[in-house]
Amino acid sequence: MNDGMLRQLPLLMDDLSASGWAQMPNAIGRRDCSALAHDLELHYEAGDFRAAQIGRGTTQSEHKTIRNDQIHWLKAGAPEQSIQYWLKEMNDLTLALNENFFLSINSFDSHFACYEPGSFYHKHRDQFRGSAGRVLSVVLFLNPDWLKASDGELLIYQREDDCTLAAEIKPEIGTLVVFQSATILHEVRTTKRRRLSLTGWMSRGDDEPNRGISKSPFE
Ligand code: OGA
Ligand code: MN
Repeated sequence: MNDGMLRQLPLLMDDLSASGWAQMPNAIGRRDCSALAHDLELHYEAGDFRAAQIGRGTTQSEHKTIRNDQIHWLKAGAPEQSIQYWLKEMNDLTLALNENFFLSINSFDSHFACYEPGSFYHKHRDQFRGSAGRVLSVVLFLNPDWLKASDGELLIYQREDDCTLAAEIKPEIGTLVVFQSATILHEVRTTKRRRLSLTGWMSRGDDEPNRGISKSPFE
């Protein structure tokens, strides 16, 4: 685990247990985030992104009114050094969280996301209904110099009162947000600037409807 994350780990653990969510600025260094953003853009230009889907049994038209970002799922064996580094950092973070909270998380899936101007993701929770697979959600932002006027914040609602905002998190490069997938309602405010991020899920068991992609690195 890198030094920045290691230093902030005790606070992350405290915040997670107190409120179900936590944010860590500069969790991943600037150069590593820039490399991730660069590789994201290469995949985007190569046509590897698709309109994101939502839970099972939802029609396409319903879906466009809920979210309209585009995503690219990462493969465990991806050749990019930036992606290998990201997966390693998330592996190390998972091990620490497992040890501290006795979570038994054993898999990690993540995707690049690109929100073009005008894109959003309405209020939702990340855990599929009837499935306990997803334990913790993580989001890493990849845009430098995000201005308030660009909107695009990640809105986090209180665990105990999901009508009340707990935080509006600016999607600034290097900030990592971690939250309980089952309890935390959240949303992405319509962005005015192209918004790049990595979103991932730390899961337990094998009932995650895995897309045949990255089952490691936790196995
Ligand atoms: C998601 C999500 C938040 C963000 O992909 O489920 O809530 O800030 N993303 O990108
Ligand atoms: Mn979500």
